[in-house]
Amino acid sequence: MQVVPTTTLLCPLCSAPLQRAQRQWQCSSNHCFDIARQGYVNLLPVQHKKSREPGDSKAMVLARRNFLEQGFYRPIAEKLTALAVEKASVEPAASPFAVLDAGCGEGYYLEYLIRALGTLPQADRAVSAVGLDISKDAIAAAARRGRDIQWVVGTNVHPPLAPGSVDLLLCLFGFPSFRHFRSLLSEYGRCILVDPGPDHLIELRETIYPEVRRSPAPSLAEAEEQGLQLQHAETLRYTIGDMEQAQIHNLLSMTPHLYKASTEGKQSAANLARMDLTVDVVFRIVGAKPANEHQ
Ligand SMILES: C[S@@+](CC[C@H](N)C(=O)[O-])C[C@H]1O[C@@H](n2cnc3c(N)ncnc32)[C@H](O)[C@@H]1O
Ligand SMILES: [Zn+2]
Repeated sequence: MQVVPTTTLLCPLCSAPLQRAQRQWQCSSNHCFDIARQGYVNLLPVQHKKSREPGDSKAMVLARRNFLEQGFYRPIAEKLTALAVEKASVEPAASPFAVLDAGCGEGYYLEYLIRALGTLPQADRAVSAVGLDISKDAIAAAARRGRDIQWVVGTNVHPPLAPGSVDLLLCLFGFPSFRHFRSLLSEYGRCILVDPGPDHLIELRETIYPEVRRSPAPSLAEAEEQGLQLQHAETLRYTIGDMEQAQIHNLLSMTPHLYKASTEGKQSAANLARMDLTVDVVFRIVGAKPANEHQ
């Protein structure tokens, strides 16, 4: 599959389609959005921001990049790709297969997936990709992964993409907005959600918290209210053996655990020289209910 540029971005101010010029994206009402030196575009207007620098901080982004580059979560990227390839192969091929990673962080999973789709021997179907995140630091880091993916600063709550334009929507460890996700999906569109299962990073959580809740993956009640239904669910579970202290620190720094843990908890984690760590993640695919199943 050839990777082609996206054509479905919308102006975040007036919702008109955006056209790409050399150094900016522009709508018919002359709202202009500069393309940053690194190649990304900022489509997050100030009225959609709840704070000055929303989303993950530069330190979190760096920690996540360092951690992911070690390959500890590669099995997650592989499983995601296997599920996505299944989908990409069965679709009718009228337009490019459009992928959106909503809350893409520094872009590890989207890049992995697009490189894999790029090698599929399907000459008759192209693929286009948008990585969206509310954190400018995350998108600036993601943009280094390549310009064939369109990296966008924006929010899942007002996603700047045309309704019905997304064939595969990814949301990994993120903040889904199912009302918007539902309206973005094309007729055959699907959303792959990846969330922590009850035992995810359990050894680390038991080290930093006095009591640990083994909570299931988040409920899909809101997705169902929006007319989405679960089509597939599976768990991926494995152990990362003998993780070193520097990587334990990166892992803590890229999650909310660093802020939530007590001083003693953080000290206990800092004292660990090495540890075995359970990865327990749940993959769920949701898609629109067939029309006759809506109430
Ligand atoms: C736990 S990180 C996961 C990042 C990436 N999906 C991964 O697994 O590596 C959550 C991401 O969601 C982003 N985020 C938070 N609120 C968001 C929103 N409303 N819209 C888009 N992204 C958001 C954060 O900036 C952060 O990059
Ligand atoms: Zn506009």
